[in-house]
Amino acid sequence: YKRITTKSLIEMKSNGEKISMLTAYDYTMAKIVDTAGIDVILVGDSASNVMAGHETTLPITLDQMIYHASSVVRAVERALVVVDLPFGSYQSDSKEALRSSIRIMKESGGHAVKLEGGKEIKESIKKILNAGIPVMGHLGLTPQSIYKFGTYTVRAKEEQEAEKLIEDAILLEKLGCFAIVIEKVPANLAEKVAKSISIPVIGIGAGGGVDGQVLVIHDMLGMNNEFSPRFLRRYMNLYEGMTKAISQYVEDVKSEDFPNEKEQY
Ligand code: KIV
Ligand code: NA
Repeated sequence: YKRITTKSLIEMKSNGEKISMLTAYDYTMAKIVDTAGIDVILVGDSASNVMAGHETTLPITLDQMIYHASSVVRAVERALVVVDLPFGSYQSDSKEALRSSIRIMKESGGHAVKLEGGKEIKESIKKILNAGIPVMGHLGLTPQSIYKFGTYTVRAKEEQEAEKLIEDAILLEKLGCFAIVIEKVPANLAEKVAKSISIPVIGIGAGGGVDGQVLVIHDMLGMNNEFSPRFLRRYMNLYEGMTKAISQYVEDVKSEDFPNEKEQY
């Protein structure tokens, strides 16, 4: 694929090719992630935690999401760029949801939006899709509802919630969503959902029976050594590597080792 589209992702699912997805929030990171060959870049509202240091995803604003997304879009040549609609930008009514989605598409140049929820936001999803804007769903653990859940533990372990999740996934496909993120639910349930629909299910903490995987880039690069959920695989220990590099720099400045003869004019 020269350029990933929503159609490419649906094709990948039918060909049995797994979809790779990572978050990015800025130009430099997005350039690396895109060049390395990722299929989908998510400008997640996890920027609220990772970039801004908030405890939850709730405080980040639509303007801030547009700033992050436009930085990412400027770097990307191949990946599909999906942008999260932040908390408060789509829950009031479907007109607000459409207005917010239009702002994201116009002002950032992103290729699609992602919203948390199923049946509750049906009208909003319809309206956004009617305007020609591709929608990615997000079910299971939906961090914008953290104060309703109370904890970030595994969702849909009980029969009733599992059934609602399957119904919601089928509804999202029927409405016309091109893919669904499923976060932190039992692997066998996520696999069942992936087999029940023909649009791709991209999992985070949802096992290997789904159609693709997503992680937060700072987590998988090991930039953060405090957050260690079971589903996270760390591909680097950048926290250690960066701390060493920075301490070395401090030492070199203090000892007058840096700059040397060649590092000046
Ligand atoms: O905001 C985010 O990073 C996300 C992923 C965890 C799916 O929504
Ligand atoms: Na998100």
